[in-house]
Amino acid sequence: MDKLTYAGNLESLKEIENDPNYKFVKGDIASAKDVERAIDEGVDKIINYAAETHVDRSIISPDAFIKTDIFGTYTLLEAVKKYRVAQYIQISTDEVFGSVKNGSFTEESPFAPNSPYSASKAGADHLCRAYFKTYNLPIMVTHSCNVFGLNAHPEKMIPLFITNLLEGKKVPLYGQGQQVREWIFAQDHCAAIETIIEKGQSGEVYNIGTGFEKTNLETTKFILQEMRLGEDKIEYIKDRLGHDWRYAINSQKLRGLGWQPGVSWEEGLRRTIKWYQENETWWKCIKSGDYLEYYRNQYGKKN
Ligand code: DAU
Repeated sequence: MDKLTYAGNLESLKEIENDPNYKFVKGDIASAKDVERAIDEGVDKIINYAAETHVDRSIISPDAFIKTDIFGTYTLLEAVKKYRVAQYIQISTDEVFGSVKNGSFTEESPFAPNSPYSASKAGADHLCRAYFKTYNLPIMVTHSCNVFGLNAHPEKMIPLFITNLLEGKKVPLYGQGQQVREWIFAQDHCAAIETIIEKGQSGEVYNIGTGFEKTNLETTKFILQEMRLGEDKIEYIKDRLGHDWRYAINSQKLRGLGWQPGVSWEEGLRRTIKWYQENETWWKCIKSGDYLEYYRNQYGKKN
């Protein structure tokens, strides 16, 4: 189920379009009617990846974040209660814990969100906890580090930088690029969720992390090197407001269930660069704002 906002893209699901286990429902998680319509299709588990996710957008306009991330989660939780859904997993973020100078966040670390985005995710996570405690519903929450990989919207740093470079442009690095992020390849994140679906316990929280910690400058330099370009392509720009310095997450609890990352940061970045090199039409339409036009042509649908 997806609302198909600016970030949604059915083109990314083309590969599984005809899979008998797949059915697409266009809908808004903040609408009880849409959620119930989706559940009527026959749902036993809900994995809630739906969210407004981009920190910079939340700084400019928090409204959609409150509606989708908080109210949307509330609507889903109400549906879990009403329809006795067998399992609910809330996909959340390490950003709810705020920034950490040394060490790493555990599942018990206190919440200290610093952006409207992370505050809306933290609000949703609190609702999950409350619905488990109050109604004893089968709810789990995950906190992941930064996900990267194929098909990611070019608003995020890694795909933005790769596609800018493919277009011959510079890459806008905030501040001095010294902030640290921990990275996980999307496929490894999916495997982590699969482990939690199979082995996780209701009411539990699981951190998802790799230990692949890099400054933004290190990530940028690696991309430049792989694309055989020089550091003159870096444009240092004004820092993000309230920019969190470092995220790092302790994932021992999840590793205890048998999960571990399979793709290194370097290998993941190489695969990602290659994908964007080979899928120019996909990201060029998004970047040029032509995506709706492209989508209409592909699917013959009108808004
Ligand atoms: O940590 C998990 C989070 O990772 C998710 O919860 C968020 O939904 C996701 O957007 C991501 O948040 P970040 O703010 O860390 O990701 P982003 O790709 O926007 O930025 C990564 C780092 O790169 C961050 O320190 C800001 C910096 N940056 C980002 C952009 C877009 C730049 O220097 N220049 C840029 O143009």
